[in-house]
Amino acid sequence: MSRPLTILGIESSCDDTAAAVVRGTADDATVLSSIVFGQTALHADFGGVVPEIAARAHAEKVDHCVADALSNAGLALLDCDAIAVTAGPGLIGGVLSGVMCAKGLAAATGLPLIGVNHLAGHALTPRLTDAVPFPYLMLLVSGGHCQFLIAHDRDRFERIGGTIDDAPGEAFDKTARLLALPQPGGPSVEAAAKTGDPKRFKLPRPLLDRDDCDMSFSGLKTALLRARDGVIGPEQTLNRTDQADLAAGFQAAVTDVLTAKTARALDLYLALNPVTPTLAVAGGVAANMAIRTALTDLCTRRNTAFLAPPLALCTDNAAMIAYAGLTRFAAGEQDDLTLGARPRWPLDDTAPAMLGSGKKGAKA
Ligand code: KG4
Ligand code: ZN
Repeated sequence: MSRPLTILGIESSCDDTAAAVVRGTADDATVLSSIVFGQTALHADFGGVVPEIAARAHAEKVDHCVADALSNAGLALLDCDAIAVTAGPGLIGGVLSGVMCAKGLAAATGLPLIGVNHLAGHALTPRLTDAVPFPYLMLLVSGGHCQFLIAHDRDRFERIGGTIDDAPGEAFDKTARLLALPQPGGPSVEAAAKTGDPKRFKLPRPLLDRDDCDMSFSGLKTALLRARDGVIGPEQTLNRTDQADLAAGFQAAVTDVLTAKTARALDLYLALNPVTPTLAVAGGVAANMAIRTALTDLCTRRNTAFLAPPLALCTDNAAMIAYAGLTRFAAGEQDDLTLGARPRWPLDDTAPAMLGSGKKGAKA
């Protein structure tokens, strides 16, 4: 039994500045504190994350996040065993802010430094929250990511498919803009869809004819634009019914694509004969109840447990980075002060490169 470790984690790869402290072992870890400073308001006027604004805000906030995370955990920096930091993939200015902060703290204290892949942080979250045994299937669906991963081990992830263009969260946000609904688009499109007729507008289900786990969401957005332009009035305003029907049609199309492709991903995963089959989701889009219900039903039909960690640990946070760092450190790995920031850093080097670069930065 390995000794419990206390790890400070730092995250700054997109539009959340975060720090957290996690304590325990790779099989049994607890979040002692988790601080997230979101930047949504700073980018609200620009229709997406502005990398320069994000980088400046990270540089301003990261020290405060670290101080708050340590104080909420009731610890001093020297009570930690190591400092873990997101070293990529993400917006390079933001990643650099976190890496420079972590390096400064490591240099000043002599604590070990551990670079973490942000996607590994998401992909290992089911181990942190529920100690799910390997292998499990992971679906990352957010504003910046969309991929299926089979997590074989703490450092072995197999990417079996993903979006070839936009991430679904990005498509929800663009749809909200087209329908004059507020940002972030996911919750507002979901709310509008509640009263809508999902069948009125015939929207495409891209790539369902392809027998793989890849997805595409950019054509759906264009189809929605055309459907909207067909009903928009002379004052360029949508009535409530049209807005609700378009939102419902879009949400149903995304749900159908995610569910059909998850069914294929489950085929590949279940062929490995996992002892306790589990599909875990992460990312803001996993908060969508229509998508969640469809995936839960699918898992029930396939005798697979469906796991959605608490939303605060599904969206970007530093507890997942601290935990992923803990697993590296417990295995005897660490970095030195030459640790670099990587805008692109695929989790699975053997899978073909993914196309596109969403509003939240490079997809890896
Ligand atoms: O994981 P997240 O907080 O940040 C990153 O993208 O990294 O995900 C945010 C995305 C946004 O695009 C937002 O519109 C979407 O998740 N989202 C949702 C819902 N809540 C948030 N999409 C669909 N339905 C929701 N209820
Ligand atoms: Zn993320």
